[in-house]
Amino acid sequence: MNDWVKARVVGKHCWTEGLYSLQFEAPITNFVAGQYIKVALDIEGERVGRPYSLVNAPGEQPVEIFFNEVPQGPLTRPLSALNPGDTVWLTATASGIFTLETVQPARDLWMLATGTGLGVYLSILRSPDPWRLFERVILVHGVRQGADLAYSETLDEIANRYPGRFTRVAAVSRESWPTALSGRITDLLTSGDLERHVDLTIDPATSHVMLCGNSAMIKDAKVILEARGLVRHRRQVPGHYTTEQYH
Ligand SMILES: Cc1cc2nc3c(=O)[nH]c(=O)nc-3n(C[C@H](O)[C@H](O)[C@H](O)COP(=O)(O)OP(=O)(O)OC[C@H]3O[C@@H](n4cnc5c(N)ncnc54)[C@H](O)[C@@H]3O)c2cc1C
Ligand SMILES: NC(=O)c1ccc[n+]([C@@H]2O[C@H](COP(=O)([O-])OP(=O)(O)OC[C@H]3O[C@@H](n4cnc5c(N)ncnc54)[C@H](OP(=O)(O)O)[C@@H]3O)[C@@H](O)[C@H]2O)c1
Repeated sequence: MNDWVKARVVGKHCWTEGLYSLQFEAPITNFVAGQYIKVALDIEGERVGRPYSLVNAPGEQPVEIFFNEVPQGPLTRPLSALNPGDTVWLTATASGIFTLETVQPARDLWMLATGTGLGVYLSILRSPDPWRLFERVILVHGVRQGADLAYSETLDEIANRYPGRFTRVAAVSRESWPTALSGRITDLLTSGDLERHVDLTIDPATSHVMLCGNSAMIKDAKVILEARGLVRHRRQVPGHYTTEQYH
């Protein structure tokens, strides 16, 4: 049984229309980077809760989430209307296995995200785990518009902390954007443009790949990776890729 605890909103950031981060002061127990909590509001007499990946590193406060408004979604609109001082419910204990706990060390860790799927990687990148297990970490953030490329200052700080070991790639699909590759992550994988850009190859002998966000991206990327010999990682049977599906 995972009890609800009351949390106070202590920070809010709007990155672009409909895209937000919220910070909470909350007595949650410690967690493993890559896990999620549930966030809930009482709406018309009913507690409406949804899972959100934790963006903050384990052991660090405030608790932070990154989300977009879903038209017709019951929770995200009221969530984005919250302001500092307001209260929400959080689950006290985090859940989830999209972590590096059972992943075998390798040379390269590829973190592929669409949209708000970026958030989970920020927590992992702020933890010691990827830097202990991998020599190089490549974060690929696929978004529709350049304005959706959130957390660039945080990513700059991480790049400065791990010189030569961290590469970030933005992929923008619906407009041309100066600092980004053009197109979907999956198309950039198929064409080879992503790996040429980074000057590394995704290969089962050297790589572990994490996929997070849109279920269609995950489904399409799995086909591409499996054709190259990567197999799904399971806790009991180590493999080469792991997934977390948001929608
Ligand atoms: C393990 C896990 C972790 C998650 N972490 C995050 C997170 O860190 N950030 C985040 O923004 N979301 C995350 N989600 C999705 C989140 O839980 C909600 O589903 C989402 O915020 C919409 O909530 P809602 O109540 O407004 O709509 P819902 O009733 O949850 O969904 C309504 C419809 O919208 C679809 N949908 C859900 N999310 C999206 C989306 N982002 N874009 C388009 N359609 C969507 C659903 O599949 C459903 O068909 C996560 C989901 C899971 C399962
Ligand atoms: N700024 C925001 O993030 C924001 C703000 C408010 C509301 N919303 C709403 O939230 C919902 C989700 O939008 P989103 O932009 O966050 O997420 P998204 O639809 O998952 O798009 C993010 C990226 O994933 C790509 N993608 C989609 N399907 C794919 C597939 N099968 N394979 C590979 N890549 C794929 C998209 O490419 P394509 O462009 O080719 O689809 C885009 O580059 C939408 O309803 C949107 O209107 C988003």
